[in-house]
Formats: sequence, C-alpha cells, structure tokens
Amino acid sequence: MPDPLEAIRAVVGDAGLITGEAVRARPGDWSGRTSCGAKAVVRPRDAAELAEVMKLCTAARQPVVPAGGLTGLAHGADANEADVMISFERMRAIEAIDPVAMTMTVEAGVPLQAVHEAAAEQGLIYAVDLGARGSCTIGGNIATNAGGNSVIRYGMTRENVLGVEAVLADGTIVSSMNAMLKNNAAYDLKQLFIGSEGTLGLVTRAVLRLRPAPTSEATAILAIKDFENVKRVFGLASKRLGSLLSSFEVMWREFYELVAVESRKHQAPLPGGHGFYVILEATGTDDVRDAAMVEALLAECFERGFAEDAVLAASKSQRNAIWAIREESEVLIKALAPGVMFDVSLPLPRMQEFVTGMRAALAAEWGDDVRSLVYGHIGDSNLHLIVSPRPWSDAAKKRVEEIVYTQLGGFGGSMSAEHGVGTEKREWLHVSRSAEEIALMKQLKALLDPHGLLNRGKVL
Ligand code: FAD
Ligand code: LAC
Ligand code: ZN
Repeated sequence: MPDPLEAIRAVVGDAGLITGEAVRARPGDWSGRTSCGAKAVVRPRDAAELAEVMKLCTAARQPVVPAGGLTGLAHGADANEADVMISFERMRAIEAIDPVAMTMTVEAGVPLQAVHEAAAEQGLIYAVDLGARGSCTIGGNIATNAGGNSVIRYGMTRENVLGVEAVLADGTIVSSMNAMLKNNAAYDLKQLFIGSEGTLGLVTRAVLRLRPAPTSEATAILAIKDFENVKRVFGLASKRLGSLLSSFEVMWREFYELVAVESRKHQAPLPGGHGFYVILEATGTDDVRDAAMVEALLAECFERGFAEDAVLAASKSQRNAIWAIREESEVLIKALAPGVMFDVSLPLPRMQEFVTGMRAALAAEWGDDVRSLVYGHIGDSNLHLIVSPRPWSDAAKKRVEEIVYTQLGGFGGSMSAEHGVGTEKREWLHVSRSAEEIALMKQLKALLDPHGLLNRGKVL
C-alpha cells in the first residue's frame, strides 16, 4: 500500500502534519518520560478535514492512534512507528454556550479546565472534574468515560455528555449532537463513542451538559480509625447531606502519610497515625445552611465515635490545600515508580476485606519488599492501588497483576472503574466481562472498523 502521508499533507497543510525528529520531540505520555513513537502526527482543523484523512488512511490501510492530552492511565494513546497519530490540538474551539438550556458545544481538543472556566463565566459548571484537568481534553474524557472527584453527585462523563460528533474509520461523519436531556429516537449512538477509547470512532465535537454553579462549598478532612467507621461516616454523610454530598474520597494511612507528612511538600491538615483519611465535600445553594449541616455532621461523627479528628476548611485556599494532597502525583511517582497502578471497583462494604487479602497475598510473595498505597473515590466504589514490588521486572509486574485480579474476581469487582483498558489492562478484561460480552464487543468493532485501523491492539 502507498504511504498516505503526502496525500494527507495536501488535506491538512504543512502545519497539520508533523514528521521526523519533530515527532520524537513530542511527549509519549503525561509523565514526559517517553517520547511519541508514531511515524507522523496529523493535526486536522475540523471533522471535515479528519474525514478526508480517514478516507486516505482506509484506502492505504493506515492505522491511526487518536490522542488528546496524553494523561490517560491505560496506555490507550501509545503509538509505534507504523501508526499515524491523530491529534486534536488544533480543534480547541468552545463553539457555543446556552445558559438557559445549560449546554456547551465544544471541539474535542478543548482542555477540561478551559471548559470549567468558560462555564464559570456564565454561573454554571461542567460537573466532571479530575486532577488532570489542566491537560486532559474533552475528547479524551469522552473516549475514556472519565470519572473523577464528583461522580457521586453528578455521574461520570457519560452522564454529562448530551451529544457527540465522531468520524468513523471510513471517513463517515456521524453527527449525534443531541442537546436535550430526553431523546429516545431509537439507538443512542453517542454511547458507542463514550468509553470506547478511540477504537470505534474519533470524537470531534460534543454537547456538554452544564449545571448551575453551587454557591456554597464545605470541605472537610476527617481522620478515622478503621474501615468500619469509614463506612459509618459514609452512611451518615449520605443521610444527613443527601444530594449535597459531592465528594467522598478516602486515603489509606500509607498514602496520607507519604504525601501529606513525609514528602514535606504539603502542610498536613491532620497528623499521621490514623487508619484512614476522608475528604468529604458538600456543595449547595445556601452558604450558611450548608456549612451548618456539615458542622453538625462532623459533630455527630465525633459524638458517635466514628471520627477521631477533623478539619473543616475555612477558606478556598485551605480547601485547595486539602485537595492538593489527594491529587498529588509527583510524590507518588517518585516513591513508587516503577510500580503497577490499579483502578478497580468493588462493593464498598467489602473494600477493606479485599485490601487486606491482597496485602497478605503480596506479602506472602515479597515479604517486606513490596509497597502498596490505597486511595480512591470510595463513594463511587472505586479504589486506586499502586503496588511496587522489588526487585522490579516484567515477571514481577505480571505476578502482581495476577494476585490483584484473582482477589478482585472473588469480590465481583471491575478491573477498570474509570481509567479504561488501553493496552495496559487488555489481557485482564475477562476478569470483568463474559465471553459473550467480549464477542459482541468484537462484532461491534468489526462493524465500525472492518480493517482494524482505529487504535488497533487497544481494549480488545
Ligand atoms: P489521552 O490520554 O490523550 O487519551 C486517552 C484515550 O482516549 C486513548 O485511548 C486515546 O486514544 C483516546 N482518545 C483521546 N482523544 C480522543 C478523541 N478525540 N476521539 C477518540 N479517542 C480519543 N481519570 C478518571 O477517570 N478520573 C480521575 O480522577 C483521573 N485523575 C487523573 C489524574 C491525573 C494526575 C492523571 C494524569 C490522569 C487522571 N485520570 C483520571 C486519567 C484520565 O483518563 C485522563 O486524565 C483523561 O480522561 C484522558 O484525557 P486525555 O485528553 O489526556 O486523553
Ligand atoms: C485519581 C486518578 C488516578 O483519582 O484517577 O487520582
Ligand atoms: Zn481516580
């Protein structure tokens, strides 16, 4: 097959095609420790250009890898020298905001933070929020069905996207730019592209659902002795705060002590030494009433012996300092790389049983030569684990994965709660999906991408 690059250049222009050394100069992922492995990077200006590019790629059987902000944690945007990378960095327009319908129409390359800022100007929010907000793009969020810090209140990306436009492998543009909450006109095609990690289509635009910006925000961090009491605090917070509860994040002791105390990078709001640290946030519409509700909740937690210590943020900067501990990544990488990161979900009541079993199994193999950190979006049944065995090797990584996923299977958990599958977790998909489900996924993939050109080797 002829190389399609010169024909692609004719479509996107010189500025739209990067080749040679300039490709290697680009990062391969968010850590900046790898470089882009593709043979070329194509930067279309809109869906029409991308459609022409995909027609050329299909004719030449040229595989493509879509890439947003490269913050994905499943190696879904990794590319090699046979791949052409499709970058959405020239598609960053916020096309429209409708403050009455509470929608925003955006191109796929818009960074999440830019969406937040544009919504804020209208007194609105886009409710998906996560630590990578400054770099990740709406297209990447949609492709991974990103979750984040307020899923408990607002749902994952899927619940916050009303419409999607996507380019298929053969260059067809499917515009499913619905802007209404209700639309049952047969199949909801946008769902094919949400969470499919660029394997079924390339997301070019979206209609996002916005919400009124809360006018009150109360953030507390609590120190708790054991997981039984974490469950009690969760139950009480859900009951007392109802729909005001927008985050319920938990850091196991080792995580909190490493980041908040040992790293000396943050001012620890609470001393180390407690079993668990919970960040609880309530957002609403009445400053005085909402703060009083959270204060009353904390008081009740103390009275009933559920919590050992707590701090209620007294200012926005105190609130941000608490979240900075939870969202720390540099310290984690320094202390635990190389290691394996897991993103699992399992029923909240059995989480600690899972963690204890996993740690025992790891210790049986490595003794003291394995470190593990546990934290996550516990209110969403989502745990993140970082496991770092020494000495590190591919075989050790594989063995850690076997241990964790075997344990997880016994709890009916999912091997990917919010980060997706990419290449990193592909071989473990069977832990959470039946043979029939995987067969249907393969049929869908064959229908939409018969030549296997879209993000090949990812997910399935
Ligand atoms: P990329 O990394 O560029 O791509 C991700 C996947 O989507 C790849 O498979 C890629 O091929 C595909 N893709 C990208 N753009 C498109 C497109 N336009 N069309 C089709 N496919 C496309 N995730 C959570 O869910 N919750 C969190 O709380 C969270 N926190 C994070 C914190 C940090 C510090 C970091 C580094 C990551 C975090 N993530 C979290 C991971 C999360 O998946 C990403 O941050 C984000 O959703 C990916 O967006 P991106 O633009 O960087 O996509
Ligand atoms: C977080 C990312 C890792 O929750 O999903 O910090
Ligand atoms: Zn997360």
